[in-house]
Amino acid sequence: MPPQDFLTQLDQLAQAGQAAFNQAADAAAIEAARVEFLGAKSGRLKAVQKGLGAVPAADKPAAGKRFNEVKVLLESALAAGQERLAAGSTAQSNEPFDPTLPGGRQYEKSRYPIELGHLHPLTQTIEELKDIMGRLGFTVADGPEVEDEWHNFEALNIPKSHPARDPLENFYLATAGAGHAGTMLLRSQTSTVQIRVMEKQKPPVRIISLGRVYRPDDADATHYPMFHQIEGLLIDRNVTMADLKSVLRLFAASFLGHDVHIRFRPSFFPFTEPSVEVDMAWETVGGKTRYVEMGGAGMVDPNVLSAVGYDPEEVTGFAFGLGVERICARRHGVADIREFYRNDLRFLSQF
Ligand code: PHE
Repeated sequence: MPPQDFLTQLDQLAQAGQAAFNQAADAAAIEAARVEFLGAKSGRLKAVQKGLGAVPAADKPAAGKRFNEVKVLLESALAAGQERLAAGSTAQSNEPFDPTLPGGRQYEKSRYPIELGHLHPLTQTIEELKDIMGRLGFTVADGPEVEDEWHNFEALNIPKSHPARDPLENFYLATAGAGHAGTMLLRSQTSTVQIRVMEKQKPPVRIISLGRVYRPDDADATHYPMFHQIEGLLIDRNVTMADLKSVLRLFAASFLGHDVHIRFRPSFFPFTEPSVEVDMAWETVGGKTRYVEMGGAGMVDPNVLSAVGYDPEEVTGFAFGLGVERICARRHGVADIREFYRNDLRFLSQF
């Protein structure tokens, strides 16, 4: 055989073999390519080698050298291909594909596992608070976020002249609604739901309501123009202020997992008498306890009971309204409630 033919055969083989090893997509494919090109018995390299005997003696040394070069070339291409597939396959599992598994489980061993989302910390808190109060016998009531002045003010003993109704303190809506008093606003407190429930239901009443409220406050570490409140209302015979404090203490201890000091400070709300500010022990630094105001509470004012048709001589009750953001921040040691609304995944993924 002319030496040129032999060398051409070798070059073609080198090209075809390298391509096969580089492109093999899995272990089975590269093994098939190995057998095809480098197989000891009937591999293509072996077949070409047989032609070496027919090359004229004078050209044999050069032809033999080239043969060895191609052999080394193919062997290293095979090794490189095997390495490439091994690196890829550590990321894949050998378990059969199970289409019923959620995506995250199927790919959790891969290089880019699918991350499962979870509820926002405030939503988690709301669900937990419902749970705790449910165990204390309180059912959940709901009310609209767009309210009329009757439910947000009038029925809560907040007359027209009261400063709490100032346009600078509320988000009044520019529409003349079909509500009780015509004007509508974004509710400034969940106490509206107290009225809505009592209008429909005879005593005894034992409800909570959780939801958004709106006030044109500047955002800072403890304020935000939209936030969440948990409202509680209990109306029955012989309800006292001591019952209020017991419920709040139980509630706080259940949520935080340990006892926490709750402090009442005398205060004023038009719809409760007496009224208190509810403070919770936040942290103790150098033996001194710092308290943070969580909201307000008190005994439901007789005027409110009358406004919904209850007899204040017959029933009494307590009400409270606390900030959910602050409750959640207290539990997790969050120093600034604005974090809850930044939507920064590095913050949110911690909960
Ligand atoms: N509604 C009051 C507030 O928003 C809190 C409160 C609720 C006070 C119930 C007394 C009773 O600040």
